[in-house]
Amino acid sequence: MNTKPFSSMPRATATALAHPNIAFIKYWGNRDDTLRLPLSGSLSMNLEGLETRTRVSFDVVMNADRFILNGEVQEGAGLARVSAFLDHLRGMIGQQIYALVESTNNFPAGAGIASSASAFAALAMAGSAALGLELSEAQLSRLARLGSGSASRSVPSGFVEWYAGEDDLSSYAESFASPDHWDLVDMVVIIEEGHKKTGSTAGHTLAHSSPLNTLRIEGVPDRLARCKAAILAHDFEAFAEMTELDSNWMHAVMRTSTPPLVYWTQTTELVLWQVLHWRKQGHALCTTVDAGPNVHVLGLASELDFAVPALKALPGVKDVIVAKPGGEARVLSQD
Ligand code: PMV
Repeated sequence: MNTKPFSSMPRATATALAHPNIAFIKYWGNRDDTLRLPLSGSLSMNLEGLETRTRVSFDVVMNADRFILNGEVQEGAGLARVSAFLDHLRGMIGQQIYALVESTNNFPAGAGIASSASAFAALAMAGSAALGLELSEAQLSRLARLGSGSASRSVPSGFVEWYAGEDDLSSYAESFASPDHWDLVDMVVIIEEGHKKTGSTAGHTLAHSSPLNTLRIEGVPDRLARCKAAILAHDFEAFAEMTELDSNWMHAVMRTSTPPLVYWTQTTELVLWQVLHWRKQGHALCTTVDAGPNVHVLGLASELDFAVPALKALPGVKDVIVAKPGGEARVLSQD
């Protein structure tokens, strides 16, 4: 790692941008909760047009971190999580210097699009750039992972694999295809806008209590290899089969945990059933669901004209947000 000493600079600022991502092969459960080392590898695609922009200003006169999200000052758990992340950066330069973190998302909070992935990818980029740390993409991905596991996948571009690895050094994400590799789109079907009942950090710890967890994890390498091969070969049928199977495995583990985690609503079930039906009729569409009720309908871009109005017409659907494959997290400015 190349580091420039923060030394005598009284103040250092950088702004970065990152996209959220949607996982086709899911991350659920850690081997190590503190380091967020996952039980398995995972695959995802970044979401273009949706973004978090974060400005980090380290300032020697500050005596505590401050965090402003979408214009609102954050206290409690939100601030504590950002501050714990900044501790990693402070550890890297060996200096106790605090920062103002100002972050905005251009997508609605609680829209079922995990903002922690783009949030910690942007924070890792902006924070390290502000301190003059020159980190490689793998180092940035590992750093982002410490804030939120899925954030490791928002650092590289396009279609991404996060290697489970064996330790902190070997667990990071890498791109295996660029955003223009495939005309795949994510139609995020908004069913509920509220915050999820059990967040993913708490959810990961419950995975171990499911009798299905070991079986799910055993099957990931095969599903991941098939899903990745399907993406590389533009084979939508094989991609759909692996993506839906993997989401169902994760929700089976969630439902059989103690206490059980049930994220789906009746509208979730309706959308899942309807998309399966449309695929049987010949439409290149499939589904995946994260830790919430909203459904990500994945399909070829040629299906947009049919699928978006058809999804919006289903009872209980509030909105549909469309995203193409997105690029890497990047620094926008430094001063
Ligand atoms: O990165 P976390 O702790 O928010 O976990 C993400 C978990 C899922 O979104 C449900 C699956 C995934 O791989 O993104």
